[in-house]
Amino acid sequence: MKSALNLTLRIWRQRDAGAPGAFANYPAENIPTDCSFLEMLDIVNERLVAKNEEPIAFDHDCREGICGMCSLVINGVAHGPERATTTCQLHMRHFTDGQIIHVEPWRSNSFPVIKDLIVDRGAFERIQQAGGFITARAGSAPDGNAIPIPKGDADLAMDAAACIGCGACVAACPNSSAMLFVAAKVSHLALLPQGAAERTRRVLGMVKAMDAEGFGNCSNYYECEAVCPVEIKSSTIAMLNREYSLAVLKDTVGK
Ligand code: SF4
Ligand code: FES
Repeated sequence: MKSALNLTLRIWRQRDAGAPGAFANYPAENIPTDCSFLEMLDIVNERLVAKNEEPIAFDHDCREGICGMCSLVINGVAHGPERATTTCQLHMRHFTDGQIIHVEPWRSNSFPVIKDLIVDRGAFERIQQAGGFITARAGSAPDGNAIPIPKGDADLAMDAAACIGCGACVAACPNSSAMLFVAAKVSHLALLPQGAAERTRRVLGMVKAMDAEGFGNCSNYYECEAVCPVEIKSSTIAMLNREYSLAVLKDTVGK
């Protein structure tokens, strides 16, 4: 395998949400295969700055697959061609010499473009604020076995808690549905005793906020599951639907 690649990038450039955007070509020559995708963009940007050209704006924070900020659609796939991998953990060895790579922002009306490849994912924050937390002061961590939790529930809650809120599920869905994200947040708290007290209020509030932000409904395309970098399962959406139905019933007939 070559240790450096010559690539052509077709990057979406857009001044802001109101401006028209378009692809522009950039050569990316002599890129080490050990680079991550974001490091490759850093190299391209350094070269643009050296030529007094406007660098490409893109989002990132941890670069460790934890924060969910690195939101890029690479050759039509949110987070790129490797399964269960965030863009910041995607390495250039997965590309081939001479390849043309298209790079776009998340596409969803609910995630307006701020600039180039950066979108505003404040909609996710607002959904989270609508109940996706436990209001009781939890204090310091109790002993591991002080609160008995069935192993199956603990495992499911941990799987759901892995969601990093990146929004790839929205970007991949033809309906711009945020249901995988909301399902992960609702179910991880609903499965644990600490989350039980606010279970009904939480799911009603978060689903209401999700709808108000303009996200579409799930219609079983499973694209969300295919691109999720932490492998949240689409079966989590079934848990959300069950939580929501029960909450509506409780809300209607009383507890
Ligand atoms: S469910 Fe997966 S794709 Fe969606 S926000 Fe969470 S981590 Fe990202
Ligand atoms: S930059 Fe934090 S997950 Fe990629």
